[in-house]
Amino acid sequence: MTAQAPLPETMLAIRYADYGGPKVLQPEWLPVPRPGPGTVLVALAAASVAPLDWKLRAGLLSAHFTPDLPKIPGRDGAGVVLAVGAGVTEFAPGDKVGVMVPPPVAAGTYAGAVLAQPGQLVALPPTLRAAEAVALINAGLSAWIAAVRCADVQHGQQVLIHAGAGAVGGVLVQLCAHLGARVTATCRAANRDYVLGLGATQVVAYDTEDFTALPPQDIVFDLMGGPVHARSYAVLKRGGHLVWLTAAPITDEGAAHGVRVSRAPITDDPKAVARIMALAARGIIRPQVAARLPLAQAAEAQRRQQAGEVTRGRLVLDIADALRGADGKPFTAPWDGS
Ligand SMILES: NC(=O)c1ccc[n+]([C@@H]2O[C@H](COP(=O)([O-])OP(=O)(O)OC[C@H]3O[C@@H](n4cnc5c(N)ncnc54)[C@H](OP(=O)(O)O)[C@@H]3O)[C@@H](O)[C@H]2O)c1
Repeated sequence: MTAQAPLPETMLAIRYADYGGPKVLQPEWLPVPRPGPGTVLVALAAASVAPLDWKLRAGLLSAHFTPDLPKIPGRDGAGVVLAVGAGVTEFAPGDKVGVMVPPPVAAGTYAGAVLAQPGQLVALPPTLRAAEAVALINAGLSAWIAAVRCADVQHGQQVLIHAGAGAVGGVLVQLCAHLGARVTATCRAANRDYVLGLGATQVVAYDTEDFTALPPQDIVFDLMGGPVHARSYAVLKRGGHLVWLTAAPITDEGAAHGVRVSRAPITDDPKAVARIMALAARGIIRPQVAARLPLAQAAEAQRRQQAGEVTRGRLVLDIADALRGADGKPFTAPWDGS
């Protein structure tokens, strides 16, 4: 460890020891981990609450991941580097970073601090607030990989994006519009103006209208699965591309409809996040923060996410006053509470 400044001793974290409802999420004060060789200690200022967090906590993703229990949830966070271990040259204390924690790892981002490897970190633009940055990490990398690497969206293409008012869909709408596509998006009727404001040229309200009446599309991004997926084949041109991002499996009917079907290969790639952050720094992608709650209300945050009450972006946990020094007094991290 090369850092000289004193480090906090304990941190507030939210953990669960067994799968179950939101009430299994319990606040605890835990020792702050120390960075060993090749690792970085980050004091967190914000964590996002993603659909994966509650699905993992409810034990619904055992086919994909088996998390180590007890687990601190949280897929991504934004914070400031407190200390680096031997051999770390990419980051230094004081750097503002985004953190990506793989889903099975026990120590997630619903905590005052987290240990990460340099490959799980991305430098953040100085202009973004912590809540804005964290709303763009997993949502942004998912949108980037789906639109740029998987679908290769081109100028003038007709693109349909399901769930355009969600965290991933909202970035996808902005990104595809920036790439020059003509974007149609689905959302509830009350979100029509919101999604048009993100850059969609047309909106289909899923609660009052039928998207299968749309003209043939080059690409459909499916963030819903189930019946929405099954009905999406009807709106694709022959030779079109159906790109899906859901936890549940789909039934591939591509051959019958003459379309390509791909699961977007989402991986925690700092290069993809960096591309999204660069667009955010230029004001091309606007971070979408649906609501903010303090870390201590993580159970309520996951309840809202699970109940489908979160709309217009990512629900974010603000992490402040979640570290204590050796004397038991609050340890103020450089990016606390912003
Ligand atoms: N690794 C991966 O493959 C990967 C990565 C990221 C996300 N995902 C998946 O992608 C999905 C979306 O993630 P997210 O983070 O964007 O979720 P989110 O922020 O919770 O957004 C969900 C959105 O779904 C919309 N919605 C509900 N019913 C709909 C319908 N019938 N038609 C169209 N939209 C509907 C809602 O729109 P309104 O608000 O307008 O009602 C809501 O905004 C999730 O299933 C998630 O697990 C997968």
